[in-house]
Amino acid sequence: MLTQEQNDRLTLVDPGTPMGELMRRYWQPIAGVSEMNDKPTKAIRLLCEDLVLYKDESGNYGLIDASCAHRRVNMLWGIPEENGLRCSYHGWLYDETGQCLEMPAEPADSTFPTRVQLKAYPVQALGGLLWAYLGPQPAPLIPHYYPFVEEGRVRSIGWTHVTCNWLQIMENSLDPIHAEFLHGYFSKYVLQRMGVIEHRGDIYGKKPVIEKPGMEFWRKPGRSMRHISASTSRFEHGVLKHRWLEGETKEESIGWNIGHPILFPNLESGTGGHDFQIRVPMDNENTYYVYYYANLPREGEPVDQAQEDIPVYHVPIAGVDGEGQPIWEQLDNNSGQDHFAWTSQGPRTRRWLERLGQSDVGIILFRRMLMEQMKIVEDGGEPMNTFRDPATNEIVWIPYDRMGDEVIEGMRSIPKEESKGEHEPLGAGSSGKFNPFNVAYAQKLGKPIPPPFPESAKTAVEVSPG
Ligand code: FES
Ligand SMILES: [Fe+2]
Repeated sequence: MLTQEQNDRLTLVDPGTPMGELMRRYWQPIAGVSEMNDKPTKAIRLLCEDLVLYKDESGNYGLIDASCAHRRVNMLWGIPEENGLRCSYHGWLYDETGQCLEMPAEPADSTFPTRVQLKAYPVQALGGLLWAYLGPQPAPLIPHYYPFVEEGRVRSIGWTHVTCNWLQIMENSLDPIHAEFLHGYFSKYVLQRMGVIEHRGDIYGKKPVIEKPGMEFWRKPGRSMRHISASTSRFEHGVLKHRWLEGETKEESIGWNIGHPILFPNLESGTGGHDFQIRVPMDNENTYYVYYYANLPREGEPVDQAQEDIPVYHVPIAGVDGEGQPIWEQLDNNSGQDHFAWTSQGPRTRRWLERLGQSDVGIILFRRMLMEQMKIVEDGGEPMNTFRDPATNEIVWIPYDRMGDEVIEGMRSIPKEESKGEHEPLGAGSSGKFNPFNVAYAQKLGKPIPPPFPESAKTAVEVSPG
């Protein structure tokens, strides 16, 4: 159990806080490259700072203070010029270092512009994402984790604004057991509530799920994942989550022997290894959530797209309807289920009220690592999993659990569900049903697509006190 002070230390990311300083040692994704194709400015809230991202007419990116130095007008309404962003109120022009270049209403020989500088941070593009670095110079390298750079992949980027603190989202990744219940039993309860199946079965798998004959729905109830054992271990890049599931031998289980990576400090790999979920703290009660996919191509899909061509799609957050009731149509997939679990813990959950058990060892390990790494930064050191050598950053491979046909000799991959692939092109996993490639593929195959949300659905969640 944590004290309130420890909870603050682990969760608050304002400038000058221990966690805020640790997070500032890592590049953070803030937008998709293709979002800037026809919208040259974007409001960014990152680590409790209000900023504006822009792309000027030369194609350079800048990330500057949201408020113009003159009289504080917001630069979101700024005009992109050849060499920077011009404030719409009186025309002051800033470049990507924040330096003021022009003040049209001041005398032509005035030196005033040279003495005005906005706060500005570096921006780089990788894998179709724009990344920002808010920490001290020299900046490390953006890690070239394989999904961002490997060849032969189809890339897409989903995003959600999650209305809670980043850490309770990360802790979900250190908690393998929730998949068994939230994405297993509860998931079937959702299908029952929606009238897709007759009955959800029971929690121990003794009573079967009763399907409705001939029911056409975009997904099937799926198999239940049952853990014989779950544990976590530290490795060079973060934590590996080990899962030995029913139906596997311990010796052959890839999920157990290789594990499932959580990359320090705020990235989780999806099962199967080629998708990432990144949890970027906007502030202490809001998180910019990225669903990154680098899939093998299906027929007709574009491979190795230019960064400007990687589609960016919005994933609505699961909430409640006008009567305060769960919206079941938002909960028939893993991302919706996770959304409500995170946000209903409260805007910044009160960990001093928790009761942790043996199955929460991964969460305890991760909190210890965060405490340890904050201390390293406080003592002037470099925290773990930062990259400075270009030679070792060409492509960074991480151990990951394989699925289906990605086989390692002597081990068994996690079996792909029979209902997956052709039969379930949208995928019940994270954000899959919102992915434009999946929707197009389902339509091409003539498969059912998910029902629309009811009119009364809200896009923000009514959160509980936590
Ligand atoms: S407020 Fe921006 S130029 Fe005046
Ligand atoms: Fe989950």
